[in-house]
Amino acid sequence: MTPATAPHAAAAPAPSGLSAAARAYLLGGAGEQRTLQANVAAWRAFTWWPRVLATPPHVSATVELLGRRWPAPWLAAPMAHLLLAHPQAELGLALACAAQGAGLVLSTQATVPLERVARAVLPEPTRGPLWFQLYPYGEPTAWLHVADRAAQAGYEAIVLTVDAPVQWTSPQARAAGFALPADWPQPNLPAGAPHGTLDALLRCALRWDDVAWLHQRCPLPLVLKGILHPADARHACDAGLCDAIIVSNHGGRVLDGLPATALALPGIVQSVGGRVPVLVDGGLRSAADVAVALALGARAVLVGRPLIEALASAGPAGVAALWRQWHDELRGTMALLGCAEPAALHPNLLRSPAPTD
Ligand code: FNR
Repeated sequence: MTPATAPHAAAAPAPSGLSAAARAYLLGGAGEQRTLQANVAAWRAFTWWPRVLATPPHVSATVELLGRRWPAPWLAAPMAHLLLAHPQAELGLALACAAQGAGLVLSTQATVPLERVARAVLPEPTRGPLWFQLYPYGEPTAWLHVADRAAQAGYEAIVLTVDAPVQWTSPQARAAGFALPADWPQPNLPAGAPHGTLDALLRCALRWDDVAWLHQRCPLPLVLKGILHPADARHACDAGLCDAIIVSNHGGRVLDGLPATALALPGIVQSVGGRVPVLVDGGLRSAADVAVALALGARAVLVGRPLIEALASAGPAGVAALWRQWHDELRGTMALLGCAEPAALHPNLLRSPAPTD
């Protein structure tokens, strides 16, 4: 891995840990954190129901999606402001993911220019996919320009986040004193992106027509991130508006009180009916959770906060260690379930959570 330091590294904490304010922002959730907690609990409420004496002779976690094959069915989720977690920020995360064959979705609100991340990642022979997440802030021509920049730099898909038209700092993060300095680097934001006020954000909130417009013009496959309702997934597929869907509630960071993604996933898989691949994120904290997501019909998953914790506590090496451990655990879990490949994981292997009401 090439050592790399992001600009503004001096503003970041030592890699050994997070300040209370950074922790509250990076690891916290919206409101009372009900969705954040529900996400984590929901994967764990499933139990396995396997047959014995069916161990396959070989197990591979390899996945194929949007024309690429890579060694394990996961990508780092797009996460803003990772300079708060480590001086190497998104570059350190990207290099560790590439070295371990994990994909990466770079956030619009990354603190490193998208071109710099692409230059570092694309030559890695083991890398997974490199996608760019787009926040449609500002004028459509401004966010199309950012999508074009990503395409030119070598990104392989645009992930359009549709679940966060407005955002604000959570009460916990505010109480912990979280605030970004005025000169905080945001080199990938669309020009003219509104700052701060709810009303400014409301004026540029996205509509389905805008998605169609972007899908027509964008030179890359379009992935919609933040779908929770089966009717939205069905509409996106019926109208041919996307190439993949990510079931997500933004990790419980936007609207508190949303259902856990584990509970939303099966309905969306059903309404999509195989027309586009379905991915999921939110609350995945182990390879065993990932196996549940795959059994429920996800083709791949995105992982957020566990990578921030690994990056903050042990730097890129911590991220690499996490992926290695998850890879071993996923293959072991699949072997015990009699599954030679991710596609063999099936809802029949699971017992649903007992109803709570
Ligand atoms: C996010 N997430 C996010 N999503 C997005 O589309 N664009 C973004 O810039 C960000 N920024 C961001 C920052 C931080 C600190 C976190 C923790 C998350 C949401 C992210 O992509 C993903 O949906 C969730 O993090 C998944 O949940 P877990 O794995 O963190 O529980």
